[in-house]
Amino acid sequence: MKILLFGKNGQVGWELQRSLAPLGELIALDHDSKELCADFTDLGGLARTVRAVAPDVIVNAAAHTAVDKAESEQELVRTINALAPGVLAQEAERANAWLVHYSTDYVFDGSGDKPWLETDPVAPLNVYGATKLEGEQLILQSGCRHLIFRTSWVYGARGGNFAKTMLRLARERDSLSVINDQIGAPTGADLLADITAHAIRTARQRPELSGLYHLVAGGEISWHGYASFVLDFARRAGVPLKVASEAIKPVPTSAFPTPAKRPHNSRLDTAKLQHTFDLNLPSWKIGVARMLSEVLESVE
Ligand SMILES: NC(=O)c1ccc[n+]([C@@H]2O[C@H](COP(=O)([O-])OP(=O)(O)OC[C@H]3O[C@@H](n4cnc5c(N)ncnc54)[C@H](OP(=O)(O)O)[C@@H]3O)[C@@H](O)[C@H]2O)c1
Repeated sequence: MKILLFGKNGQVGWELQRSLAPLGELIALDHDSKELCADFTDLGGLARTVRAVAPDVIVNAAAHTAVDKAESEQELVRTINALAPGVLAQEAERANAWLVHYSTDYVFDGSGDKPWLETDPVAPLNVYGATKLEGEQLILQSGCRHLIFRTSWVYGARGGNFAKTMLRLARERDSLSVINDQIGAPTGADLLADITAHAIRTARQRPELSGLYHLVAGGEISWHGYASFVLDFARRAGVPLKVASEAIKPVPTSAFPTPAKRPHNSRLDTAKLQHTFDLNLPSWKIGVARMLSEVLESVE
């Protein structure tokens, strides 16, 4: 199997380089790649790359993910998050290849408190969500065989993430304010990459599994609960923190005004994915604890 991966240096792309390697020949690109164009603002170049490589599977981990910046860069974001995946889908259809793509719970308006199903009505609140939704739609319209995974609250051990920010702030400050009215499931890039590899293997044998799936870690938590978990873990591991547990204050979203509106309810129902691919999605706590062990070890 020949796999063409875009966005290899992002959180998910980095883990995909590991998880996809055993499946076959992996050609992994980012937008600085010299010999083959992988710049998502160059739609013609992207199409030429797919034709030159002639992959069996295209995996797209590239995206414009700066949610607040997206509000003022609408055209650029649409090109990267919608038009470019649309081109990849057309090329996949032409070459009879699979396209694997990631989308987001931000396609929903965040109302209610039930986990969203794949079939629930979409109504994005911001530019990022709207362009990710258009990307999904262009893939569906192309008729290519696809796996679209909607996920949320992605973190990787490499680079910056929410947990590392909380650890830094908790060393510097006596108190912290963290949002408690947005609920979701922190999901490791490593988990996404591992599930992607399993799903590709299964779907290649069963083309009828082509479709849209919700993919997040098990359980749910607010950002405030997530921060408290991280700092409790660090304290138990002997990390000196300035902030006491009771000094992590829960605040509403309105306490931190941002250019992009964010959904309150980021819960995603993953029953379809677990059932279809016979997979288990472990609790978010398992992945976050593992990431924290790695992060704290490298700090010591
Ligand atoms: N992060 C989340 O919380 C989250 C939540 C829901 C869904 N998702 C989705 O999950 C997928 C992976 O996200 P992630 O967290 O791994 O994102 P990420 O870490 O921001 O990585 C995105 C990658 O896309 C690349 N990229 C940006 N502009 C590009 C361009 N013009 N041409 C080619 N590549 C470009 C980036 O390269 P540079 O860094 O070099 O610019 C980076 O390698 C995306 O589809 C995202 O929408 C993410």
